[in-house]
Amino acid sequence: MKTRTLSTRQLDDIAALLEDDQVVALPTETVYGLAARAGSRTAVERIFAVKERPADNPLIVHAATAGDALSMVRHVPDYAVRLATAFWPGPLSLVLDSDVDWPWVQAGYRTLAVRVPEPSWLRALIQRVGPLAAPSANRSGRPSPTTADHCLADLSGRIPAVVDGGPCSAGLESTVVDCTGPAPEILRPGPVTAEMMARALATDGASPGHGAGGDTSNGAVPAGRGASPGTRHPHYQPRARVVLVESVEAHPRTDCMVIAPAVAGGGREPANGPADPGPPPTPRLERRWHELPELARNLYGWFREADRAGVPVIYVQRVERRGLGEALMNRLEKAAARRDGGP
Ligand code: TXA
Ligand code: MG
Repeated sequence: MKTRTLSTRQLDDIAALLEDDQVVALPTETVYGLAARAGSRTAVERIFAVKERPADNPLIVHAATAGDALSMVRHVPDYAVRLATAFWPGPLSLVLDSDVDWPWVQAGYRTLAVRVPEPSWLRALIQRVGPLAAPSANRSGRPSPTTADHCLADLSGRIPAVVDGGPCSAGLESTVVDCTGPAPEILRPGPVTAEMMARALATDGASPGHGAGGDTSNGAVPAGRGASPGTRHPHYQPRARVVLVESVEAHPRTDCMVIAPAVAGGGREPANGPADPGPPPTPRLERRWHELPELARNLYGWFREADRAGVPVIYVQRVERRGLGEALMNRLEKAAARRDGGP
């Protein structure tokens, strides 16, 4: 199958594919999603096949409006309405009791995760074809795609089309919040931070707790309430080994990538001394950032760049676990977790 690249203006072509129960990779404000009509078992089963996604991992359903999203769920507590009002359209997924019966989306759970995505062209598309189930458009276990090229690298030849909307503005997956209990619980930290939610809920005193998604226990996240089902599976891993460090300055200068804050006075430039007669070493790839949103936007792209360059290791300087730093450390710890189940 040849994968076509479409623009966000080609709504007729995108809609035609989705109405034909095909899957399409498309940009959201968080990461690129692999979308199919949520109400179609055939279409949604294609998502699982194309991604090689474990069958026990439920999907997020994307709706055109908050009203449409909340019409698919029931027992919606007041705090969930407040969160929806404050952050939709935007990078927040709410888990609620399902009022639809889509076992192919829910993967055996009685709940449904819903969100209203930010891009207006995407909401127009959903208005037209109905709600879309969409996981990140990577092969399972790979870093989420934040450009159309990343989608093609993972899925070219396996899907009919990718919609190129440029790089995603957030670059990290949505915040997933369990709204089935007396207070919201964060299952996966993301661009809508605990602080932002606490502020939005401040007037009624409910404040979001932290599920295991944000805990520091070295990647071993228990399932059940407090952990999103997806957290059991390997995630966000480039082929290179990811090593989290306090400071990258002490680590080797060659054959690796470093991801670290920009240092005052600029990055390290190689000294312009007399030519070294030895064989040219593989350079150390330096990726520097100034603000956490810049790190979030670029992190997965840098992981993929390291893999294309063939470097064996990526040293990443830890960030403070506050605000967006919570989501970043969550992804970084998963990326750094050993694949063989060892410590
Ligand atoms: O930003 C995003 O959320 C992107 C874009 C495309 O919307 N999607 C995304 O989907 O990241 P995915 O499938 O890669 O991650 C969805 C996460 C998984 O960890 C999954 O287990 C969890 O949400 N999830 C989905 N439905 C759930 C449910 N009913 N209860 C608990 N967790 C759920
Ligand atoms: Mg994913």
